[in-house]
Amino acid sequence: MPETHSNPLDDPSANPFEVAALAAADIARLSGVEKHDIALTLGSGWGKAADIIGETVATLPATEVTGFSKPALEGHVGTLRSIRTPDGKHVLVIGARTHYYESHGVRRVVHSVRTAAATGAKTMVLTNGAGGIRESWKPGQPVLISDHINLTADSPLEGATFIDLTDLYSKRLRDIARTVDPTLDEGVYCQFRGPHYETPAEVQMAKAIGGHIVGMSTALEAIAAREAGMEILGFSLITNLAAGIQQTPLSHAEVIEAGREAEPVISALLARVVEAL
Ligand code: HPA
Repeated sequence: MPETHSNPLDDPSANPFEVAALAAADIARLSGVEKHDIALTLGSGWGKAADIIGETVATLPATEVTGFSKPALEGHVGTLRSIRTPDGKHVLVIGARTHYYESHGVRRVVHSVRTAAATGAKTMVLTNGAGGIRESWKPGQPVLISDHINLTADSPLEGATFIDLTDLYSKRLRDIARTVDPTLDEGVYCQFRGPHYETPAEVQMAKAIGGHIVGMSTALEAIAAREAGMEILGFSLITNLAAGIQQTPLSHAEVIEAGREAEPVISALLARVVEAL
């Protein structure tokens, strides 16, 4: 099998918005749902939310939707799900995130967000597992993302596309989340390139420049979601304290385990927040 452009986004002459429109048409055809209202990207620890926010109308293997690919990592799910909430909202759940560190290019990273917008979604809920810089935070704790610092030195925007990022992580939506759980803390998310975890010195830098959360996703997706006109709600599950803040070495197994333990609680929280949106 020739490898050339097995994913249409790998063709530099492809228009990523046209590819997203094709993906949205695949989702409509395969799910029978013409239009979605809300999209959720479920990161480490958040997966169970898909089982409780409503009735699953269709589960689609990501590989059947244009431009999506198999997840690179165990612990990440490769499906898209169309769910109907009890009050009749159609929610597209994206369990197939492409990370920047996979080196497939930023178009592939933000394809799910552009596809969500093309399905009609006006609200994008981005979740992740991340390291916490605030010492008062505990592994297993969900926090709201209030803003971000993009340390990837990249952007999903192509050409002279000047997009305002003030209130990128909508205060209105954060306030709605806090009506569900008034104890939710919030912080500034720093996206590093990864896939290595940060050094303690990098964590101190992130802290010095105003960061509270370190991770390897979300910021680029949020920019693309804003470009597409969506309102964004961001949640991080603190799976560990960031390197050097916690004294023990970090491991992917620890991150997955923290996610697994927190999953029932944070999934229930997320389901209630989606209901309130
Ligand atoms: N750093 C970056 N990404 C992460 C971390 C971290 O400490 N924990 C989970 N994802």
